[in-house]
Amino acid sequence: MFVEYCVGLSGLVASGLFIYGLKAMSSPVTAVAGIVAAGYGMLFVVAATFLNLFNITPEARPNLLVNVGLGVVALLLGSLWAGWRGRTVQMTSMPQMVAIFNGMGGGSAAALAAVELLGNHDIPLLPLSVTVIGALIGCISLSGSLIAWAKLDGRIRKPFRFSGQRAFNAALFAATVVLAVLTVMRYATPSAELPRDLFFGAALLLGVCMTLPIGGADMPVLISLYNAFTGLAVGLEGYIMNDPALMIAGMVVGSSGTLLTALMAKAMNRSLTNVLFSNFGETGGSSKGPEGEMTAADPADAATTMRYGASVIIVPGYGLAVAQAQQKLYEFVKILVAAGVDVKFAIHPVAGRMPGHMNVLLAEAGVPYDMIYDMEDINDSFATTDAALIIGANDVVNPEALTDKASPIYGMPILNAYKAHQVFVIKRGSGTGYSGVENPLFFQKNCTMVFGDAQAVLSKMVEAVKALGST
Ligand code: TAP
Repeated sequence: MFVEYCVGLSGLVASGLFIYGLKAMSSPVTAVAGIVAAGYGMLFVVAATFLNLFNITPEARPNLLVNVGLGVVALLLGSLWAGWRGRTVQMTSMPQMVAIFNGMGGGSAAALAAVELLGNHDIPLLPLSVTVIGALIGCISLSGSLIAWAKLDGRIRKPFRFSGQRAFNAALFAATVVLAVLTVMRYATPSAELPRDLFFGAALLLGVCMTLPIGGADMPVLISLYNAFTGLAVGLEGYIMNDPALMIAGMVVGSSGTLLTALMAKAMNRSLTNVLFSNFGETGGSSKGPEGEMTAADPADAATTMRYGASVIIVPGYGLAVAQAQQKLYEFVKILVAAGVDVKFAIHPVAGRMPGHMNVLLAEAGVPYDMIYDMEDINDSFATTDAALIIGANDVVNPEALTDKASPIYGMPILNAYKAHQVFVIKRGSGTGYSGVENPLFFQKNCTMVFGDAQAVLSKMVEAVKALGST
């Protein structure tokens, strides 16, 4: 009785911590506390799972030691591996780590469903159907996330496409659904095994086939979608296992993943069907390339101009993360602020390679949150700003998104850096950004390129403004 009470209570406490954690993660100020709280929530439910062993009936005890042993080994391996990866992962490799962790979640939900379906339990029709739906979603999430990981990690370099692929995928989906229905109908009969086994195989193959044709640029959106799938699968399995903590955790992940997917697609001005069924970047882009010539300056000149300006808006992008130049950048900013320059940071919702990428990077360097502005709050200020300093960003400041209907990024909201009196762009060469689209801003008369790796350029800028002293 006491054990049951404790287990029930731990589920309630854990659910509260998950919900609080998610809420806290929505602001950079409270995000770390949110992650820690959700971690404690996980700790509670794992502890409760072990406590629950005392409730197991004597008939089920013969396998108890083996099962507990396997559980402890899995827990140790999982914790050690995840802990090590979490500590060592580069910020730029975060999307692939999220993909693989998410795949493991989907796989766990599918494994729970498999245990239910393989066991000789008597499952009534409704829970049985829910188990099979959970298995379907979990399998797609597992195999799809693994392919997404391989793509993001550069192990699969090109999207795999062939003619008639959409029809093939639609037929595979239909076959999987038929096998799912057969699995439900034949459950508990001797002929149940074949459709069930084929169903699991088809569901895993479906995840692979859905993911293979999708281009790298759309992977973060797809991972977010799979994250929502995993949450849904876990929630459904929680219902089957009568486990409120699992249900709530699954639904929190499922609903937040769905919202995040919708927000990311919106910020890129793409519909989800467009992400899933069209090939981004293959439309050829603008009919005519940008006209004019790029103007270049050395870091010291650019830095001096900003030092004597009244206001600077900084636009960080993926290249800042690649160069790991956030500390140097903040060192530069502190010198400007000390010299009386009004400095602000402008963050585009899809700058970098995952939601919040730039916020995390700036927080890491110690940039105060009140210097960081979202796109909608700062976009009007560019026109009255002396200088915009763009560091390793490209697509998110590309004005072609506003003007060229033929462009693949047309309609994507951008930061209006092109409106600043003077624009400085730090990047290594004249290459395009993630979308592969040329950026006409770099050819504008008010734009000066400062070529080089962001870390090296910012170091020179810091030296230059330090040399100016307080004059
Ligand atoms: P990008 O458009 O990818 O541009 C990054 C730029 O950084 C490149 O043009 C590159 O030019 C430069 N760069 C790379 N390494 C550098 C280094 N070491 N030093 C200096 N510059 C360097 O980045 P963005 O503007 O942040 O846009 C993000 C893109 O990712 C968008 O297309 C967005 O839709 C996509 N995306 C984002 C998300 C999320 S949620 N964030 C999700 C899906 C897709 P050089 O090679 O010339 O140096």
